[in-house]
Amino acid sequence: MNTYIGIDLGTSAVKLLLVDSNGGILRSASKSYPIFYPQDGWSEQNPEDWLSAVKAGLKELFEGGMVERKDVKGVSFGGQMHGLVCLDAEDNVIRPAILWNDGRTEAETAYLNERVGKEKLSAYTANIAFAGFTAPKLLWLKKHEPENFGRIAKIMLPKDYLAYMMTGVHSTDYSDASGTLLLDVQNKCWSKEMCAVCSVEESWLPKLYESYEVIGRMKEEYGLLNAVVTAGAGDNAAAAIGVGAVDDGDCNISLGTSGTLFVAGDTFSVDEKNSLHAFAHATGKWHLMGCILSAASCNRWWVENIADGDYDGAVRGAEEKLGKNHVFFLPYLMGERSPHNDVNASGAFIGLRPDTTRAEMGLAVLEGVAFALRDCLEIARAGGLKIERTKICGGGAKSGLWREIIANVLGVKVERVCVEEGPAYGAATLAMVGAGEYKNVSEAARGFVRARDFVLPKRELQSAYEEKYQTFKRLYPALKDVFKEWI
Ligand code: XUL
Repeated sequence: MNTYIGIDLGTSAVKLLLVDSNGGILRSASKSYPIFYPQDGWSEQNPEDWLSAVKAGLKELFEGGMVERKDVKGVSFGGQMHGLVCLDAEDNVIRPAILWNDGRTEAETAYLNERVGKEKLSAYTANIAFAGFTAPKLLWLKKHEPENFGRIAKIMLPKDYLAYMMTGVHSTDYSDASGTLLLDVQNKCWSKEMCAVCSVEESWLPKLYESYEVIGRMKEEYGLLNAVVTAGAGDNAAAAIGVGAVDDGDCNISLGTSGTLFVAGDTFSVDEKNSLHAFAHATGKWHLMGCILSAASCNRWWVENIADGDYDGAVRGAEEKLGKNHVFFLPYLMGERSPHNDVNASGAFIGLRPDTTRAEMGLAVLEGVAFALRDCLEIARAGGLKIERTKICGGGAKSGLWREIIANVLGVKVERVCVEEGPAYGAATLAMVGAGEYKNVSEAARGFVRARDFVLPKRELQSAYEEKYQTFKRLYPALKDVFKEWI
């Protein structure tokens, strides 16, 4: 029996799936690692922790001997995007990785957008600078840690660090490289102009591959002697594969630590103000994406820090309040990416009264995330995209209440597929294509992604939420200056 491994390097944990060639899940494992916030708005992890977690996860997949390592024919990756991993000439990690939700680069982001200029950035890369992207982090490192910057011999994205340590090949794929702001996305090559702007030597950069292309083989110590390794994808592109969002106009919402609205496209396109990310897809085509920095993480914060860890209890009774809740929540716990691009934005409850209950506040948290996703959808719609249905995945998608809120706030049909592990499943799919099990990614995804259930918007609830959204939209502009002064 041929088997495949998909490894998703998430922000809170790595998830590993062992699947058969029909997409059936044989085993899974998940291992967590710490995230460090050394200063307000900073967010870091140790790449060595990722690798140890993967090794422990691999061991668990094969415990009991039900499946043998020799049967594994392919391995691939999905991973948190944008993180900066730097190695020196001896392959030592120079400093902790600076993650996608790190907001330290306000000055560098402003320099790129205002001094280099958004028009040039868009012409070079198809994107503008956002604080979490990799290029501003390199500028930050050069200014604030010149010694570390001087030691750089290789830079890589989080999942590419795993691939490098496991195969010895310094590679990346176009979907993940799109989020560096160093890639000319349309022409699928590193941008010489951006390398010059960021003082990046081309020799530091990984070789570029399509997500499903074979980069090499696993080192002997892993015992996966018959497996090819394919480049893999950024976690959002991998998730899109995992839920079958592969054809033109297919949409996927991921409710993980971040929240994303991902729209696959057959042709390359950029929205007018570059508010959405214009990135390569793991199918070999393209996608547009809005990313909010805190999604399921808002609910986790609310339940674990405030509501005594009781996930069900936190919103008990709230169903009756759907569309009628008087409390608003702004979900900007780590600042915000799409569409505000503001590292100073912060979380807020608005509309509290003496009779406000904890359940109403918990409901407001779920609604606030849905409204922030609606902000992303509005940009996509303004750009002419017709989105009437979406897949949904990620930890937050397990909540029926949240799926119902999202369907009604966005006014779209929200569909779940049978396998919930979007990015890890997508990564396993990429491994299968690399090993020749399927002709291409779309064929593989269409072959075994199965629908599970769906939620349709209800007319009355949708219009109640429409009214609330119009109010939500006014809250960030009203508070923007306050956020800035507070920080
Ligand atoms: C996407 C983004 C996040 C991370 C989360 O642009 O920053 O979705 O990839 O892992």
